[in-house]
Amino acid sequence: MVDRKQAKSQSIPKTGILYGVGVGPGDPDLVTIKAVEVLKKVPKIFAASSSKNDYSIAENIVKTHINAKDIEKLPFPMSNDKSVLLEAWEKNSARVLEILNTGTDCAFITLGDPLTYSTFSYLFKTIRKKAANLEVVSIPGITSFQAAAAAANIPLSEGEESLVIVSGARGGAKLKQAVQISDNVVMLKTYRQFNNIYQTLEDLDMLEHSTFVCKLGTDQQTIVSDLTQLKDTSTPYLSLIIVKKT
Ligand SMILES: C[S@@+](CC[C@H](N)C(=O)[O-])C[C@H]1O[C@@H](n2cnc3c(N)ncnc32)[C@H](O)[C@@H]1O
Repeated sequence: MVDRKQAKSQSIPKTGILYGVGVGPGDPDLVTIKAVEVLKKVPKIFAASSSKNDYSIAENIVKTHINAKDIEKLPFPMSNDKSVLLEAWEKNSARVLEILNTGTDCAFITLGDPLTYSTFSYLFKTIRKKAANLEVVSIPGITSFQAAAAAANIPLSEGEESLVIVSGARGGAKLKQAVQISDNVVMLKTYRQFNNIYQTLEDLDMLEHSTFVCKLGTDQQTIVSDLTQLKDTSTPYLSLIIVKKT
């Protein structure tokens, strides 16, 4: 017969809690107090990194807050190929689940907000397929476009105005749709298709209504309100555009 003490020691550990922690767009001062509290408390922290060089922007943002606490990097390729992305999500979610299954609480740090165009949403959905009862706690972060609006002193919406957020990963098509239905548009992920997006803005006669912001919160932060300066240039990964119709 197994006594109670023995049964307890043999029981399967409860799955750890998965925290999705938004660390803001770049400035370590824009990491919330709650995010820092969670990161200090959890035994294990993961961060998405470039599959090319192991660099994690999110890790760079929080490192001053959590001293030398070890962060495990999970490589996510920058690819539009769904099968390549699926393979990475599967592999990385299996690694996180492996740790959660030992009863260890884990945090996944992410640029900006964890539920706004973030790897975290894919990660936790993939893990939930294997662990339906997984407890997920999302800690919101200041988004890139909120910080961009603040840096440029541009109201994102006023009064009855609307605001639409779109991705520029496939070029300017989404922008064309968005300006038809919204007073204000934010386009993230403008880096790869910048020239196509620029052309769309020119065709819509919206260049003068647009502001380009890149590398927010870093010493290379740049705000460009005359977009014609950017014609035929390439732009970095950390760049976005705010378009105001009026
Ligand atoms: C995968 S999305 C991440 C969005 C993020 N979760 C958020 O809440 O803002 C990456 C895009 O966010 C924008 N972004 C994030 N951080 C930025 C920064 N520091 N400066 C400018 N754009 C930034 C860029 O458009 C970039 O291509």
